[in-house]
Amino acid sequence: MYTHLEQRYSPRPPVTVATLQKMKADGERIACLTAYDASFAMLLDQAGVDFVLVGDSLGMVIQGHETTVPVTMEHMLYHTRAVARGLARPFLVTDLPFMSYATPEIALANSVRLMQEGGAKMVKLESGASQLNIVEFLARHDIPVCAHIGLKPQSVHKVGGFRVQGREQEAAERMRATARELQDAGADIVLLECIPAALGATIAADLSVPVIGIGAGGDVDGQILVLYDILDITPGRKPKFAHNFMAGAGSPLAAIQAYVTAVKERSYPAAEHCF
Ligand code: KIV
Repeated sequence: MYTHLEQRYSPRPPVTVATLQKMKADGERIACLTAYDASFAMLLDQAGVDFVLVGDSLGMVIQGHETTVPVTMEHMLYHTRAVARGLARPFLVTDLPFMSYATPEIALANSVRLMQEGGAKMVKLESGASQLNIVEFLARHDIPVCAHIGLKPQSVHKVGGFRVQGREQEAAERMRATARELQDAGADIVLLECIPAALGATIAADLSVPVIGIGAGGDVDGQILVLYDILDITPGRKPKFAHNFMAGAGSPLAAIQAYVTAVKERSYPAAEHCF
């Protein structure tokens, strides 16, 4: 009973929402990566990654689709279970895939599956003003929530491509307000994708919950990248914010350790990775 309370006093206590909040308060950067299987999950744990996301990016990097839209709940459950088996310390977050949170009730049923059957500790959903009621409903049922704003890959066919968001002043103001509303609705973490660094900094300063960025500049509370991008596995053109940590590393473990160190020491992201 309460083994997790005992683990708190172990040399490597599991990361919790409270740990992530304390890291924000202490100014310690949160190192996050995606993972899709148990072997890489073990390497991420060994390398000191704090937060592991089973991203629906698996639709692109594992399944070979052009977008994340074809990913289903069954795919997310399969990969979440595999990753959960490989992790001891990091906090495990899983994406709710396309259309799995169309209403608050559907979102709740699918979040429960990801937590009970998959072992996720938190769910992530691509959010905006239209998802405030869903975040509020999940939070009211004690589901930990990460709200993903900025570039939302599940909306790629609606917006017409993968583009930097929040460049114009009006759009930036709207995103800033949405981030605050999502926090007020109960989001425990806000994730910002592909936005100007100055806007990322403003949102991280505005919010009391941790703000994780991918292509959102260096002045946010943590960084996340797609694992296959940092290991230089992804073929073709990489996003501006991606960095190849495999170069000169010698092994995947050393590359992941180099990423964690760069995030903690704030040498990643550099100016060349920012918008
Ligand atoms: O699916 C994913 O990997 C993500 C990250 C890009 C944040 O959402």
